[in-house]
Amino acid sequence: MSALLEVSGVSKSFDGFKAIDNLSFSVGEPELRAIIGPNGAGKTTFMDLVTGKTRPDGGTIRYGEMSRDLTRLSEAGIARAGIGRKFQKPTVFEAQTVAENLTMALRAARRPLDVLLRRPDQGAAAAEVAARVGLADRLATPAGILSHGQKQWLEIGMLLAQEPRLLLVDEPAAGMTSAERERTTAMLVEAARTRAVVVIEHDMEFVRRLGCRVTVLHEGRVLAEGSLDHVTADPKVIDVYLGRPEDGVEARHA
Ligand SMILES: Nc1ncnc2c1ncn2[C@@H]1O[C@H](COP(=O)(O)OP(=O)(O)OP(=O)(O)O)[C@@H](O)[C@H]1O
Ligand SMILES: [Mg+2]
Repeated sequence: MSALLEVSGVSKSFDGFKAIDNLSFSVGEPELRAIIGPNGAGKTTFMDLVTGKTRPDGGTIRYGEMSRDLTRLSEAGIARAGIGRKFQKPTVFEAQTVAENLTMALRAARRPLDVLLRRPDQGAAAAEVAARVGLADRLATPAGILSHGQKQWLEIGMLLAQEPRLLLVDEPAAGMTSAERERTTAMLVEAARTRAVVVIEHDMEFVRRLGCRVTVLHEGRVLAEGSLDHVTADPKVIDVYLGRPEDGVEARHA
């Protein structure tokens, strides 16, 4: 596993408040990585910086074998480089069916060479992506009548249709039923077999099922990193995030 993303000494202040403070860490390829940490730790800001939505005050974010510095690319350029992002709120086209939503995403992702060399069967491709996100039997369903969890899956499917090398997912489990959460974990584990997937999540059961390396952010820096068991046994993590054992295992800031 080599590093796909290398964040080095990145800082970002908002009105003098250091949201990201000399942050350094890297993500491999393929890899599934969870990011946890209290509210305001800088988790979402980290994703904003990687995708170019926010510009850092300093530091570099190197990506890919050419070690391109993402902080010098436009948001569109970063997306074209293979970085997909899922926001907390699903943004699917409600009036369109699952198949139509996926077909639009597949079209957007088609490279000119694909079009020249073969004419992929869009219907089959959409069905294949739908199966990857548990929506195989919902192809003809308008997205607007899907459950919240299914909308989230559709959006994950629309991102996967674009075959990102790095997929960033912010709090996917929020608002899902426990059955939906379980299926979401399986989906992300599967997606991370062939790419880098970074997941921000407060739900510790969800993070445990991901079964991956965990980075704990606090005050814009890495507080701890390692297996979930390793980081949750760290007194510093217990102190700022998990609370005393008698508070239970759920993160108290969730
Ligand atoms: N665009 C912005 N303008 C001003 N302040 C911001 C902006 N984005 C983030 N912040 C501030 O930066 C800090 C880190 O916020 P961020 O959203 O990254 O935290 P988080 O770890 O994602 O928290 P949560 O778990 O609540 O989602 C917060 O204090 C937040 O108010
Ligand atoms: Mg956040």
